[in-house]
Amino acid sequence: MPLLDTEFGMNESSIVREWSGQVQPALVASFVFLFCLEACLWVRNLKLKKRLPGPFAWPVVGNVMQLGQMPHITFSNLAKKYGNVYQIRLGCNDIVVLNGETAIREALIQHSTEFAGRPDFGSFQMVSGGKSMTFTNYSKQWKMHRRIAQSTIRAFSSANSQTKKSFEKHVSGESMDLVHMFLRISANGQYFNPSREFTVAAANVICALCFGKRYGHDDVEFRTLLGRINKFGETVGAGSLVDVMPWLQNFPNPVRSVYQNFKHINEEFFAFVKEKVMQHRESFDPDVTRDMSDAFINRIEHGKDSGLTKDFVEGTVTDIIGAGQDTISTGLQWILLLLIKYPHIQTKVQEQIDKVVGRDRLPNMEDKEGLAYLDAFIYETMRYTSFVPLTIPHSTTSDVTIEGLHIPKDTVVFINQWSVNHDTLKWKDPHIFNPSRFLDENGALDKDLTNSVMIFSSGKRRCIGDQIAKVEVFLFTAILLHQCTFESNPSEALTLDCSYGLALKPLNYTITTKLRGKLLNQLPPV
Ligand code: HEM
Repeated sequence: MPLLDTEFGMNESSIVREWSGQVQPALVASFVFLFCLEACLWVRNLKLKKRLPGPFAWPVVGNVMQLGQMPHITFSNLAKKYGNVYQIRLGCNDIVVLNGETAIREALIQHSTEFAGRPDFGSFQMVSGGKSMTFTNYSKQWKMHRRIAQSTIRAFSSANSQTKKSFEKHVSGESMDLVHMFLRISANGQYFNPSREFTVAAANVICALCFGKRYGHDDVEFRTLLGRINKFGETVGAGSLVDVMPWLQNFPNPVRSVYQNFKHINEEFFAFVKEKVMQHRESFDPDVTRDMSDAFINRIEHGKDSGLTKDFVEGTVTDIIGAGQDTISTGLQWILLLLIKYPHIQTKVQEQIDKVVGRDRLPNMEDKEGLAYLDAFIYETMRYTSFVPLTIPHSTTSDVTIEGLHIPKDTVVFINQWSVNHDTLKWKDPHIFNPSRFLDENGALDKDLTNSVMIFSSGKRRCIGDQIAKVEVFLFTAILLHQCTFESNPSEALTLDCSYGLALKPLNYTITTKLRGKLLNQLPPV
């Protein structure tokens, strides 16, 4: 844990100072009191409550000790014993865990409204200045908020052929900027960690949509800010302890440090967005919509029936940048890692790109149809890594029954996407990385199978950036592979081990990049 704190920007000495403080007798007495109270409630609950199947839960901590380093794997293992719908207890919260294709689709599609809630976790209220759409419970106001966010994203990315082209241009520009960066850093065969460059590239795409502005890869302030946002998912990911054991806030411990850092990250990021939105307000012209910030000001602040106050503008922009940056850069990091791990797959994708696109122009979205193996590789990366292994925690909006089991209103629900993507009833050898599983005998993409991959969730809370994400991931990958070859560092053991959070992040790895043929000219990103 000290490592975590150091990464969060706290130095080790402050932690030591916090721990070395005198433990007050009153604190010990409070702890003993809380423990006894919880033990009494636990015994009472055992007698009163009709529990769903699930592992034995200890007083005070419940099943916290059983979660392990990778809760999604633990949850899948528990499903083998207790079935696909079972209950665990984390701290003071009873939580239902849903696993497997059938139970999860039954919940999210057939009972979409009942599973559309979010828990009232303290950490959720800290996000986007308390005006988040993503972390807010289901309500009439939330529905309007989501509708505005969703239609604005569409208006700037896929509403018509012109917006599609314009969005594509942003992504191609950033991809070529990455190519130049990678080649520059790799000069003389140097090895480097690509994660920071991916983070900046993905953030630039979303900032161009939201603010009409991108930042240079060398902008230290921007990079620092993004480095911190990277840590966001450690607190809001399912299985994070900060919300389920709120009493840990009362005395110094590592979980409290994580919570306090989470608060700072959110405040800092929200302040950054707020300033940009303020600048937009000052120069706002209702007849000219420059970017998504203008569009949100127009609809939320000046619209007649949005039902949202003006501070929802910055809340919405913060949500979209937060959601659209870390996920994409994490996906790209996995893609590159798998390309260097399986060089024969890298070569096969490049051969298809060369055949379909040729060497004289860059790939674009119109080439997608002909690049089925590349698409299959991307879907297999999403399935195999399941890099968003559990959705953001849900909660039930009313009593509901799944697979014959009753779940009461306001129950916290974890949805295990990893288990859908590794369900042996659906996938042959799910633990093997094999892009060809998505291709039919003619080499065409099997759409039924690609639709079965679950990484954007489903139902009322399904990701609203899924189309943007698919375009970004496809174009970044196609352009990088058209222009470059990537090689692993022979002095490093190539591992697929990762760190857990809302997104699974590969551990640090380094690569080197080589130019394939000639470097194509491309307009610089806008
Ligand atoms: C590969 C990239 C991405 C992945 C894997 C991904 C995945 C997800 C997942 C799993 C959720 C949670 C759904 C749930 O709780 O059931 C989510 C929610 C969300 N995503 Fe994405 N996402 C990606 C990219 C994006 C992008 C680019 C944007 C915005 C432009 C975006 C915006 C959102 C928003 C606003 C929500 C909240 C939806 C709600 O609560 O109603 N995401 N995403």
